[in-house]
Amino acid sequence: MKRSIISCTDISDLTLRLAADIADTANRRINESGVFSFVLSGGSTPRALYRILAEPPYLDDMPWENIHLFWGDERSVPPDHRHSNYAMAFDAMICRLPLPEDNIHRMHGETEPGDAARAYELDILDFFMDECDLADEIPSFDYILLGIGEDGHTASLFPGAASLDETSRLVMPVEAPSYMPVTQRMTMTLPVIGAAKRVTFMVSGDGKREIVNAVLHDADAWDRYPAARVTAAEEVSWFTDIDL
Ligand code: 6PG
Repeated sequence: MKRSIISCTDISDLTLRLAADIADTANRRINESGVFSFVLSGGSTPRALYRILAEPPYLDDMPWENIHLFWGDERSVPPDHRHSNYAMAFDAMICRLPLPEDNIHRMHGETEPGDAARAYELDILDFFMDECDLADEIPSFDYILLGIGEDGHTASLFPGAASLDETSRLVMPVEAPSYMPVTQRMTMTLPVIGAAKRVTFMVSGDGKREIVNAVLHDADAWDRYPAARVTAAEEVSWFTDIDL
């Protein structure tokens, strides 16, 4: 597995370079396989990226009819709630995209988390049914976008959580720490993240310099920070405007 760090000058440079990476990867994968499965991150950092993807040239140049959107995690709130990861992506991007409804695979935060997680797992398996032998393979998303919190969490995988040790479920309900907005959530697990061809962290702001350096360099990072446990089938990339 390759690991790359793309150092950007500021959030604008970061957003433009990451949008180009996503578009290039999408076009290449669609030429190869006819489809691009793209897992969106929540939080606030990706908002600027999502806006760029819904504007020219990407709005016109990306084959959106062949792109399927998924989420890496969701808070247990309705899809129009101010803390919904779906709502953030919808307002910033999806509302302007020529995306068929069937290409939007939303986690149902309005449903009981255990039921919603299982339903989402079935949605993933159904999507990949034709692509892989689900009996012995974990579905491999083309591109998973992640953020990182200052505690080293990613998606809704938090330090010390039992979810970090999950080896079979693709999606599971979790309880986030009380310092997070909305504690009831659901998240993709490390096995399905690690099966993805590309995993990219989008990180912005000096406030995250310490945690990113710790995740990348500390000897005990794997024990302490969920983001340090993230792998990928091909490459883990860090797009950041932090001077590491
Ligand atoms: C969530 C996100 C979470 C996020 C980080 C960073 O639902 O909260 O998936 O993992 O990516 O908390 O969030 P910011 O980009 O807002 O700093």
